[in-house]
Amino acid sequence: MRRRHEPHITDEGTPASGAIRPHRRTFLTQGALLAGATVGGLVSQTSGSRAAEFPPEWRRRPGRSFVAYGTPSPFEAKVGRLLPVRPAGHPTPGAGASFTPLEQLHGIITPNGLHYERSHSGVPDIDPARHELIVHGLVRRPLVFTVDALLRYPTVSRVYFLECTGNSLAGFPATSPAGPLGRMHGLISCAEWTGVPLATLLDEAGVDPRARWMLAEGIDGSGMSRSLPLDKAMDDVLVALYQNGERLRPEQGYPVRLFVPGFEGNLSVKWLHRIKVTEGPTYTKDETSKYTDLLPDGRALQFTLRMDVKSTITRPATGLTMQGPGLYEVSGLAWSGTGRIRRVEVSADGGKSWADATLQEPVLPRALTRFRLPWKWPGGPAILASRATDERGEVQPTREQLVAARGLRSVNHYNAISICHVGGDGQVTSAWA
Ligand code: CO
Repeated sequence: MRRRHEPHITDEGTPASGAIRPHRRTFLTQGALLAGATVGGLVSQTSGSRAAEFPPEWRRRPGRSFVAYGTPSPFEAKVGRLLPVRPAGHPTPGAGASFTPLEQLHGIITPNGLHYERSHSGVPDIDPARHELIVHGLVRRPLVFTVDALLRYPTVSRVYFLECTGNSLAGFPATSPAGPLGRMHGLISCAEWTGVPLATLLDEAGVDPRARWMLAEGIDGSGMSRSLPLDKAMDDVLVALYQNGERLRPEQGYPVRLFVPGFEGNLSVKWLHRIKVTEGPTYTKDETSKYTDLLPDGRALQFTLRMDVKSTITRPATGLTMQGPGLYEVSGLAWSGTGRIRRVEVSADGGKSWADATLQEPVLPRALTRFRLPWKWPGGPAILASRATDERGEVQPTREQLVAARGLRSVNHYNAISICHVGGDGQVTSAWA
């Protein structure tokens, strides 16, 4: 019988070079990690060992044959989107959101089947042969594109995050939702999107010099529509056709969606059917009723389109359990609608002191960035937190700072630092403050 290998620290030493870190006794640099510690499986590793039968049955007979479209291992069947909890008899089936299980994933790419969903009237099954994209309004010549025509245009591929405007909205009242981390922050995902630059299509239609905005409308049951400034539309917006190498999933707007990097998720209008070039915003029902930010004095901010700098620790997190004192990798995700993430700091004492995490390359603009920091958990209670800074120097605020600026009546654009309690018993609870 062989012993199961567990991660352990073989050297109590700390890095000899560089500035003294506030956390030198609990956080290890990558160099110290390589020199002095051995890493095996980390969080959530099953403890105790069952007698292993050898050879196992999969060594003694051939495995299954080929399949046309692959699926995860049956042993990963528990990994799925966190579905909406709705009162029975809710009047609008399919209106709501499902969340990405951030605590179950690693790296920066969200598998297509786990990308968060947000829809206002369910997911239509659109026949691409019967779908058209219309470009009209303040243009020299209105154009109608079939999906086949769009597929013939030159394309670009970019890795971008998509975040729902209302992601983390329970942070305003600071009511920690029941369930895993994804219930708090899982209305964010990241994929490689391939499509036609919108500027190509607008140039072909010939934009009138008076035009400053455009309207994008979907053809789902809700007719979801939003206004977008034309300078953004001509900059980096895509008419997206592919997601992570395959055609869009129905819940992501098949056969064609708008993709607006770094902006509120709902601007990336799914099931895209119509673009109207305009002088000003259209003030659609969606942007006047839902996607505004109510201030304490009763006024509301409108067209706050860019998503702010933000981060969350995904390991450890609610839904995972510590397996005894020792070496753990603290890891998570950071992002900013402004551009690249420049820095992520991690605290183990609830924000009193901070240490720099390593950013996983490539650090891409308006994409998720994975950060990591080796941590020696001594076994007592700890409060972990992460704080992101983007390339423009914007720093993720504390909850106190955010509430002071925005009040408690809003539901959108919550980006404050959140924390993760590690109990002395190894129980992990992610929370707002
Ligand atoms: Co907004």
